[in-house]
Amino acid sequence: MSRIVYLNGEYLPEEEAKVSIFDRGFVMGDAVYEVTCVLDGKLTDFDGHMARLARSLRELQITCDITPEEWLAIHRRLVAENGLTLGGVYLQVSRGNAGDRDFHFPPAGTPPTVVLYTQEQPHMLDGPKVEKGVKVISVPDLRWHRRDIKTVQLLWASLSKMAAEAAGKDDAWFVEDGFVTEGSSNNCYIVKGDTIITRPLSNDILHGITRAALMKILAERQMKIEERPFTIAEAQQADEAFYTSASAFVMPIVEVDGVVLGDGKPGKLSKRLREIYIEEARKNAI
Ligand SMILES: Cc1ncc(COP(=O)(O)O)c(C=O)c1O
Repeated sequence: MSRIVYLNGEYLPEEEAKVSIFDRGFVMGDAVYEVTCVLDGKLTDFDGHMARLARSLRELQITCDITPEEWLAIHRRLVAENGLTLGGVYLQVSRGNAGDRDFHFPPAGTPPTVVLYTQEQPHMLDGPKVEKGVKVISVPDLRWHRRDIKTVQLLWASLSKMAAEAAGKDDAWFVEDGFVTEGSSNNCYIVKGDTIITRPLSNDILHGITRAALMKILAERQMKIEERPFTIAEAQQADEAFYTSASAFVMPIVEVDGVVLGDGKPGKLSKRLREIYIEEARKNAI
């Protein structure tokens, strides 16, 4: 069934939504995006996603005058029109169409291109990955150095994920200067005893909205957190590992570069944190 999508102020069947071949997002990857999870038909961590969107736009000097209230209304209308209960809303804002391929700023007043659509994900809450845990390989981090901006330039992320799948694994962890930065589309954590270790925020990683929500949960429960970089060798000796993202919540990891963690099953703490995160996300969903 065709979805209703949003394009530049209009709600259209997906086949009718057309973007110019001159669009900066298409020719230069000059665009930012967000993915907000939908649980029980409601938006989770919505304010966090909109705050990060505003920051990404500011960092790239893309002008978009849609207000937070309007973003919420667009999201809600798409969720309602498409009857979405479990999945996500993809949002993208590009620098727009300057009328030709050109590296300069588009003429003043060129509107950004704004696209939103819903994506169903019926197995977000269960499925084999949740039950068995995921297996990751490591690859060098060959991305640019502003990973804190959520741009659509996902070439290395998708090549790495495809390499992992070709190797019979699930995902890739990026490594730079000997330390894990993050996963292809998630933030990474290892567990040693009762301590949860994750890389601190900087321009080296995306400031995950799920990470922020989880850190709040951990702090409220006075759990031990160490924000510091870790190596693949340290991860291989960890008791547990997991990653977080808006569409995966807290996902247990059971293997790193061929080394099985613990008994090879999703760790107790990872599973518990997944439950708590989903519970809190449900409570806070709007
Ligand atoms: C590179 C990267 N890191 C981390 C994340 C997790 O961010 P969030 O929790 O906001 O989904 C993502 C999500 O797409 C990502 O692409």
